[in-house]
Amino acid sequence: MELAGVAVVTGGAGGIGRAMGERFGRAGMRVVLADVEQGALDRAVDELRSQSLEVTGVVTDVARYEAVEALRDRTLELYGGVNLVCNNAGIGAGAEGALWEHELNDWRWAFGVNVYGVIHGINAFVPAMLAGGQEGHVVNTSSGNGGASPLPGTPQYAVTKAAVVTLTECLYAQLQDSGAPIGASVLFPGPHMLRTGIFTSWRNRPAELAKEKPRTTPYATIEDIEAQMRAAGVEPTYTEPAEVAEQVAAGVVAGDFWIVPASAQTDGQIQARAESMLKRENPTYLRAVPG
Ligand SMILES: NC(=O)c1ccc[n+]([C@@H]2O[C@H](COP(=O)([O-])OP(=O)(O)OC[C@H]3O[C@@H](n4cnc5c(N)ncnc54)[C@H](O)[C@@H]3O)[C@@H](O)[C@H]2O)c1
Repeated sequence: MELAGVAVVTGGAGGIGRAMGERFGRAGMRVVLADVEQGALDRAVDELRSQSLEVTGVVTDVARYEAVEALRDRTLELYGGVNLVCNNAGIGAGAEGALWEHELNDWRWAFGVNVYGVIHGINAFVPAMLAGGQEGHVVNTSSGNGGASPLPGTPQYAVTKAAVVTLTECLYAQLQDSGAPIGASVLFPGPHMLRTGIFTSWRNRPAELAKEKPRTTPYATIEDIEAQMRAAGVEPTYTEPAEVAEQVAAGVVAGDFWIVPASAQTDGQIQARAESMLKRENPTYLRAVPG
């Protein structure tokens, strides 16, 4: 589809979501940014409006279906329709210790935002898009971590991002079968890590899903992750959010399902995993650090 009409981006207050909102706004779309962080959302909206882009902010917790329904209702009230929905809000749970020591609330929080957040976006918006009868597209943000193969030290993140891939594959197939002019894509932001707020996701953890046991170590910072990478012989390299937004814009226009930038690292992981499955070999390709 063309980048025209109305775009909704969740997790739109910062990082990749904000960059997508800016890119769509510059293409002339009317943009609704949704985020759980009021202050950051207000700042993003002000900055984008100062560039004369048509942007509205709606405070939304994507883990709550009523909130995403309210986001849809506000969008329809403002603009009468919606063409592009980016289910992008996501968190890293930053659980401590081994997987079997992780708390159920670590899983609940990650599933609430990373998986239910996407399901809520689909359930709230796709019927409205179908009813509108216009061209449309849904982009769901996954990650190479879980989407291609998991970093075993981050199970909540990897498992939820794997779920986003399968969910989007099912969505794509059903939309195709329906004959509706609505496409679907899954995004692996990259080709490298992005220096965004994802590394301080704990700032948005809701009180009702707080950890029951106090942490014994601080949350890993981006500097800690960089040190782990260097110790493993990998030099940290970053991708800019604007570059990812450009890939998304191109992918939506081209109707690409996989918005997965080519990278030796990701391609190698996809290949190694597929070969392991096809050869019925044990998963020796699993690695400890991001690449
Ligand atoms: N940064 C990376 O290297 C990287 C790599 C692969 C995938 N991703 C994915 O990209 C997406 C965007 O992340 P980012 O890197 O821009 O991080 P970010 O933290 O800068 O942006 C995520 C946004 O989501 C918002 N958010 C968190 N919980 C929410 C909730 N319950 N409801 C609504 N909004 C909520 C945050 O306030 C934040 O503005 C995420 O899905 C993330 O998993 C990031």
